[in-house]
Amino acid sequence: MSPQRTPWPVEVLNRFGIGGWPRLRSAHVPEPSEPTGPPFAAPIGTRDVLPPDSRRWEALVARFAGEADRAGYGLLLSPLFESVGVFARMGEGTDVVRKEMYDFADKGGRHLALRPEGTASVVRAFVEHHPVVPWKVWYVTPAFRYERPQAGRYRQHHQVGVEAIGSPDPDLDVEVIALLAGFYRALGLEQVSLVVNTMGTPADRVAYAAAVADHLRAHLGDLDPEDAEKVDRHPLRVLDSKRRATQQVLATAPSILDSLDDVAVAHFERVRAGLVALGIAHEVEPRLVRGLDYYTHTLFEFRSGALSSAQNAIGGGGRYDGLVEALGGPPTPGIGFGAGIERILLTCEAEGVFSVPPGAVDVFVVDVTGGERARDLTVALRRAGLGASRAFDARSMKAQMKAADRSGAAVAVIVGPDEVAADEITVRPLRGGGDQQRVASADVVPHLRALLGEDRP
Ligand code: HAM
Repeated sequence: MSPQRTPWPVEVLNRFGIGGWPRLRSAHVPEPSEPTGPPFAAPIGTRDVLPPDSRRWEALVARFAGEADRAGYGLLLSPLFESVGVFARMGEGTDVVRKEMYDFADKGGRHLALRPEGTASVVRAFVEHHPVVPWKVWYVTPAFRYERPQAGRYRQHHQVGVEAIGSPDPDLDVEVIALLAGFYRALGLEQVSLVVNTMGTPADRVAYAAAVADHLRAHLGDLDPEDAEKVDRHPLRVLDSKRRATQQVLATAPSILDSLDDVAVAHFERVRAGLVALGIAHEVEPRLVRGLDYYTHTLFEFRSGALSSAQNAIGGGGRYDGLVEALGGPPTPGIGFGAGIERILLTCEAEGVFSVPPGAVDVFVVDVTGGERARDLTVALRRAGLGASRAFDARSMKAQMKAADRSGAAVAVIVGPDEVAADEITVRPLRGGGDQQRVASADVVPHLRALLGEDRP
């Protein structure tokens, strides 16, 4: 890798006390022929989302908020970092906790971590504030995981999600799954499939993990070495290995469905019956385990048929009936999901759905008389409820008209010396034809409202 570029010599940086930053490994002075770039770029595995692409993010989050609101979920805002112990409760054996957490000591020596997912913070907030149950919240959040970046896998990704805490009712599982299925439908996605499984009661889960570990230990030599290493630490995680050698061992592994008690069977049957009643197609995948350790009973994952298998998990979740207790609260059941925004948008692109038109103002004000009229008119138009933009820096008429065109505005409002003298403005439609007109300054707002459509505010 080329050294981090900086336009300043190290001695200069050191003088300002920043030369010791690990990123500034050397003062690389580019050769005159070498292309120079900015000294910093977004960290590996992260991305900037610029307008107009960010319009799709806005629209997606708004759509999700609408679905969640209609189902009675309220928005929860909580800190992006927590005491590391909050996340450690997700399972010391999981990769997310063991290898991928962005943890650090703050200046007061507290051991904190950036949130790798949304659920643990919600549960911590539940325990701290003891709200009335069932507590139904939704969130949109970045999540940080030190993973190997690849298509659809980032070190900072973003999730929309819900959590419903305080009821063991299997119909709540159905509500949560139906909410996510409805969201994908609302985006226009069609190539989405749903797989479900159960981990049973906490006791079922422990017994099943032991049975799987026994089976894997009996075939240790036949496992792929990377999976063999997980057998003691996290045997259930081996179940979703895609490696061929491991797959052969798994073919004869015990199934969770054979070791469930009656309560767990009844819960799972009620969930499946609910999905059938709502017409939500699904398959039972007895090997579905998911990467976090807190799950009990229902587990589910939505997969996109339009993405490769490495990145096709576009949302998933399940019950975590022991997590509230693990975080210091009274025994309280909970269920929720998280769905990756980047992956959902990749799926929308692959399926050619949910295209969001670029944002455009209604009116672009062109002023070649010094800018004061543009300054005042844009604000007046916005106060009247119209979208208005303008150019700055006293650009020429030609440059301002070009900017007007680029802005996507339907109409340009032009102020030149003639207009000022007559106390008028010129209104020129930029799209959809129509003639240019001179209008008295006092009539500009009603005139534009009529021109842009009567449904304007
Ligand atoms: P998760 O399966 O780890 O579950 O993540 C949820 C979703 O986030 C995934 O289905 C995927 O769409 C997206 N995702 C995860 N990691 C990445 C990544 N590195 N890059 C891009 N997208 C990613 C959870 O986080 C649980 N908190 C879900 C939950 C909520 N369970 C119960 N309640």
